[in-house]
Amino acid sequence: MVRTIGLVTGGGDAPGLNAVIRAAVKTAVGEYGLRVIGIEDSFEGLLDSTLTRELRPKDVRGLLPRGGTILGTRNRGHFIERTPDGEQIKPEAIYKEALANLEQRGIDGLIVLGGEGTLEIAAEFHRLGVPIIGVPKTIDNDLAATELTFGFATALDIATEALDRLHTTAESHDRVMVLEVMGRHAGWIALHSGIAGGADVILIPEIPYSMEIVAEKVRERERCGSDFSIIVAAEGAREAVGTQLYIDKGDKHRPARLGGIASRCSSEIEQMTGKETRYVVLGHLQRGGRPNAFDRMLATNFGSCAVRAFMRGERGVMVALQAAQIVTVPLAEAIAKIKTVPPDGQLVRTARNTGISFGAPDEAKYHEGKARYTDC
Ligand code: F6P
Repeated sequence: MVRTIGLVTGGGDAPGLNAVIRAAVKTAVGEYGLRVIGIEDSFEGLLDSTLTRELRPKDVRGLLPRGGTILGTRNRGHFIERTPDGEQIKPEAIYKEALANLEQRGIDGLIVLGGEGTLEIAAEFHRLGVPIIGVPKTIDNDLAATELTFGFATALDIATEALDRLHTTAESHDRVMVLEVMGRHAGWIALHSGIAGGADVILIPEIPYSMEIVAEKVRERERCGSDFSIIVAAEGAREAVGTQLYIDKGDKHRPARLGGIASRCSSEIEQMTGKETRYVVLGHLQRGGRPNAFDRMLATNFGSCAVRAFMRGERGVMVALQAAQIVTVPLAEAIAKIKTVPPDGQLVRTARNTGISFGAPDEAKYHEGKARYTDC
C-alpha cells in the first residue's frame, strides 16, 4: 500500500513543473491523506546523505505561476552513463543505494516528472520493483505517447513573440534575421512558432536543408519587393550535405549540446545573397519564467491524474494527453519512440501552401511538371 509518495523532477526544466508539484501535493495530501516527499536535484537527491523534504499544501502555495522547479533538477547524473558509441549503462550500485535510501525515508512510490532520459531512469526503478507514475515533461513536445507536454505552449508564445519583434527590426533595416530555437531531434517549436510568427523559412531536423534553396528564398522575396526575411531554425536542423552542429559533444554523464545553426546560416546567407544578416539564439528564455494559462491547466491536470492513477493501483505508467483526455500509457511505450515532425504532414503542407520554405525541394508543389505558383 502506498502511504508516502516521492516527487522527482528531472531533465531540463519546463514552465509548469511547479504547477504539477502543487496539484500532486494538494491531491495526495488533501484528497487521500498521503505524505509527499520532494526529492531534490532529480534522482541525485537519493544518493549520499540524500536531499529530501516533506511537501505539505502550505509548501506549494503560490506555485501555479512560478517557473522552474522548487525541487531543482539535473540533466546529467549518476543513473545513466553513456558509452562513446551512445550505449546506455545503468550502474547497479547507484540504483542499490537509491533503493536503500527510498526505504530508509519510508517512500513507497515515486511520481517522476521528466522527458525521455528521466523516464528511462523511472522505468529502471519500476523494473526494480518501485511503484512509479511518470509525468511527461519537455518543451520540445517530442514524446510520442502524449499529444502535448506542458511547457511547449509557453515556449511557443516566447518564440512567436521573438519572431514578431524580429519582423519590425528586420523590415526597418532591410535585413535577414535568423532565430535559433530549441529542438534537438524534433522541430515542433520551430514549425509552430514559424507558422504563428510568419517566418519565411523554417529549418527543422526532420527536413535536411540546402543553403542554396534558403538563399534563393531570400532573393525571391527581394525580387517580389520584400527586402527583409525571417528564418527560424531548430538547434538540431542540419544541411542535407552536413551534420548537426555541436557546442559540446558531452561525455558519459553529460548529454551532447547542440547549437550554432543560426550563426552558421547567418554568415552563409550574407555571403550568398549580399544581404545584411543578424542572428539571435533564443536559448533558455524559452524554458524560464511563468507558464502560460494552457500549460498551468495541463500541468495541474497531469499532477492530479498522476496521484489518482497511483490510488487506482496503476504502476509503471505515464500520464498522457490523448484526444483531450488524460490517460495512462505503459512507461515502456512512453520511452520507446520520440515524436518528430512528419515531413509530409498537414502542418508542413500548410506552411508550404502559405509561402514558407523549408530550404528543401517541395515535390508536391509541381503540378504536371509546372510550378503552380510563380507570381509574387
Ligand atoms: O529538452 C529540452 C531542451 O530544451 C533541448 O531542446 C535543448 O537542447 C536542451 O533542453 C538544453 O538543455 P540544457 O541547456 O539544460 O542542457
